[in-house]
Amino acid sequence: MAAALASTHAHWSSRFAFIMAAVGSAVGLGNLWRFPFMTGQNGGSAFVLIYIGCVLLFALPVLMAELAIGRHAQQSAITSTRKMAIEAGKSGKWSIVGWVCTAAGFLVLTTYSVIAGQVMAFSAAGFAGGFAQPDGATMFYGTDGVKMLWHFGFMVLTILVVSRGLKGGIERVATILMPLFFLVLIGLTVYSLINGAAGAALTYLFAPDFSAVTGQTFIAALGQAFFSVSVASAIMITYGSYLPRDSNIGSSSVLIVSADTLVALIAGLMIFPIVFMVGMDPAAGLGLIFTALPQVFSTMPAGNFIGGAFFALAFIAALTSSISLLEATVAFVEENASFGRSMTAWLLGGFAFMIGAGAVYSEAFAGGFVDVLSGQILLPLGGFLVAVFAGWVIPKSLMRTELSHASPGLFAFFHFAVRYIVPVAIGSILVLGLDDRFN
Ligand code: PHE
Repeated sequence: MAAALASTHAHWSSRFAFIMAAVGSAVGLGNLWRFPFMTGQNGGSAFVLIYIGCVLLFALPVLMAELAIGRHAQQSAITSTRKMAIEAGKSGKWSIVGWVCTAAGFLVLTTYSVIAGQVMAFSAAGFAGGFAQPDGATMFYGTDGVKMLWHFGFMVLTILVVSRGLKGGIERVATILMPLFFLVLIGLTVYSLINGAAGAALTYLFAPDFSAVTGQTFIAALGQAFFSVSVASAIMITYGSYLPRDSNIGSSSVLIVSADTLVALIAGLMIFPIVFMVGMDPAAGLGLIFTALPQVFSTMPAGNFIGGAFFALAFIAALTSSISLLEATVAFVEENASFGRSMTAWLLGGFAFMIGAGAVYSEAFAGGFVDVLSGQILLPLGGFLVAVFAGWVIPKSLMRTELSHASPGLFAFFHFAVRYIVPVAIGSILVLGLDDRFN
């Protein structure tokens, strides 16, 4: 059965479809919601520079490794890492790499859907004129029961797309929504730069100021880079498994991280002029887009429409990310059980919904356990393991074959990074970070 499934393993219909799906996975709430508030909390421009460094040094090589592993083995993350290790003469227990990443991705999905639900609610609030009244947005997103409904609605949408499979679901949604996303993003950014405090925003984002940099800034930037590029969560191995043999993984990876970083920077240019226009605190934290922005929209001409469009943009970004998160686990279960894709998507999506629902009702659970486990432990650990796997477990020659299109320079950088830079840096961060947490 497994062999039969493997031979019918689906593939992307074009390079465009793959790039749209992968960029769709990478571009999400991480860019529009998390990046702006992390930048605000970590000193603005200095954080931006360190972040870009982390993307290039850590996220890019791990992304190349994941796409190469998936493309080589043509299976889900867990099966691919087991298969490739055995092929290289190593223990099948190396599938732990796939397990950690799959668990990380699944846990991210549980709370991601809660925030995405809030984004949907705020978009509806904007288009319904809710930002015009004080607390108008909270009418759409007030009680726990209402939060639950939006979380439920968002998860159902995610499940519906994934249950339709690669071509009919994921590809179709990504190829339609991502171009639309870029159009709306550019439109809103131009509007914001013209009408908001563009100068203050540009200085804030790009004039280097290293006074706020601490060790913590690096840890925050690394975590954000992994989260934003969607690595260490089984997705890119899974999406890589749908790649045809002759695809150029090096250039695709460079394209994906560039697009993702560009969107984060543009999101900053869209959000901060508005934040500064009314003199809000850029370090408002988690609530930056949910409390600061709606207040601004309430005072702006056409603020309801602009606000509705802003949150619709974030909704599109979130949906193309959440489908990739669910797909990574669905692909694994589908390989090993006979429920069929649709049933698998409903079961796993339902399970993720329930864990996320627990997060709505229990702040401690949400802010503590799930978040720390996924964001601060499993994602860095997953990235560490993928790097060790690609740098030490799998022979260099095999990685070279998978990355045959990459220039000698890019490959040399890649191999040095997964062998030394990523494991050493993340290893020390994990040890120091955990040490900090438990002392
Ligand atoms: N990259 C997505 C974002 O920026 C979120 C995500 C994280 C998706 C981890 C998959 C894995 O919003």
